[in-house]
Amino acid sequence: MSLHDPRYKARIASHLAKYPDKRSAVMPLLYIAQEAYGWVSPKGVQEVAEICEMDPTQVKSIAGFYTMYSERTKGRYWLHVCTDLPCALNGAETFYRELQDYLGVEEGGTSEDGLFTVEHVMCLAACDKAPMLQCNFRYMESLDMEKMKAWIEERRAELEAAGQGQGA
Ligand code: FES
Repeated sequence: MSLHDPRYKARIASHLAKYPDKRSAVMPLLYIAQEAYGWVSPKGVQEVAEICEMDPTQVKSIAGFYTMYSERTKGRYWLHVCTDLPCALNGAETFYRELQDYLGVEEGGTSEDGLFTVEHVMCLAACDKAPMLQCNFRYMESLDMEKMKAWIEERRAELEAAGQGQGA
């Protein structure tokens, strides 16, 4: 899959049409690259750079600055746990460590079944709902490990039922 795939043509064109300068479309195009490759791969960066008429180094630096872009492969569910101070005061660091232990991953790691990638992030502006995380850019709030384990096992069961579980 690449950004030149016909399925992305209309979306890319619509983003480019919003701006007088192609470079302004770099962020939405990086999203599309991430969707196409599953991460912001070097090839994705190169393609975005070509479309936006930018230097690939500039595009890569933008991708590296924002946490919503992943510069490495990741699981189907990308879990960003806020461990910033207000959340930490409400148990977020313990929650984060327990989540890592449950999934058997280190910071930025992906579970053995390839489903869950876990990273910690700074404030996501839901400090009163800690512990909280964003999964594929959707917020999950007021969490504890019992809720989290149930959610994780539901996702695993869904994929198993769809024949896409581990070893499928
Ligand atoms: S500190 Fe975690 S959401 Fe604000």
